[in-house]
Amino acid sequence: MSQLIEKIRSKACSDVKNIVLPEGDEVRTVEAASIIKKEGIANPILIGNPEKINAVAAELGVDIAGITIEDPDTSERTTGYAKALYELRKAKGLTEEDADKLAHDVMYYGIMMIKLGDADGLVSGAVHTTGDMLRPALQIIKTKPEMKLVSSSFLMDCPNKELGEDGLLVYADCVVNPCPTAEELAYIAVASAQTAKALCGFEEPRVAMLSFSTKGSAKHDLVSKVQQAVEKAHEIAPDLLLDGEMQFDAALVPKIGASKAKGSPVAGRANILVFPDLQAGNIGYKITERIGGAECFAVLQGLNAPCNDLSRGCSVDDIVNTVAMTAVQAQG
Ligand code: ACO
Repeated sequence: MSQLIEKIRSKACSDVKNIVLPEGDEVRTVEAASIIKKEGIANPILIGNPEKINAVAAELGVDIAGITIEDPDTSERTTGYAKALYELRKAKGLTEEDADKLAHDVMYYGIMMIKLGDADGLVSGAVHTTGDMLRPALQIIKTKPEMKLVSSSFLMDCPNKELGEDGLLVYADCVVNPCPTAEELAYIAVASAQTAKALCGFEEPRVAMLSFSTKGSAKHDLVSKVQQAVEKAHEIAPDLLLDGEMQFDAALVPKIGASKAKGSPVAGRANILVFPDLQAGNIGYKITERIGGAECFAVLQGLNAPCNDLSRGCSVDDIVNTVAMTAVQAQG
């Protein structure tokens, strides 16, 4: 297990949070829940039909005694969640009938548990797509008041320990915002620095705002956007070490940083990389993973309460780790 994950799991155990798993009868999820409970990483809450969930546990031979199971079809909470959901979304055209239907849906039920304070965080994605979870989370849990938008960070644990913080880098945004504005990029940078502190323990987040240009070496509207994002980020977080625009190598390689961005407090020693859009970010993290051999762990940031997504090919360990990261985010 990587040192990063060990630290995150141990931090999660220090203040146990209630984490909802809406895909409660999914095989990997049931096995993960039993490990999470046994190791004290969180109090997992499985959503689904108890008979089905218990049958999966019996088939696997895992112990889920003491784990809370919530069944939206029989729960006393469902009517209340439907009413609250209707009040929250009626201005957006949601009818009482549709709210009642949605409250019976495992994902909406889980999100409403968090909204109404019955749980601290949520992890899904073994079955559902990113959008299936993200849309209700954005609609109902919404963005933290001090944040303009929800985005994501990837914690990249690279084999080359000279990079970032002993091989650890944070990449953003690689999941959510296809085409962020300059202001949105600035907020993504600030949120990523917060994530890096909370989850990676970075004492000095150093943010590079990436482009195909370093300090005006190229002129283009896309470059100007990143330059504006740098200005905006300095306004929002004047104490944050952040610089740009700069190229990927200028951000990470000390010699190149020193020659292309002389005097920059970040160039050559960045530990957080903010990509200019989702195409660059998503491609960038996959290159680092597949060609660079990095282990990567994704989290959403900027939501009023933590909700995180898994890949549908996730392992039991991936679920346990994502629950641990969600629990640490919920610790605040
Ligand atoms: N931050 C905060 N709120 C947001 C954001 C955001 N980034 N994006 C949308 N919203 C809000 C909207 O304001 C709206 O709220 P409202 O209904 O209260 O007015 C609500 O979310 C829904 O917004 P839409 O624009 O209608 O949502 P859409 O259906 O377009 O879905 C989504 C939003 C799911 C985030 C979309 O942007 C998306 O699909 N992003 C890319 C996800 C993806 O496929 N990533 C890559 C794969 S994942 C991987 O590789 C690991």
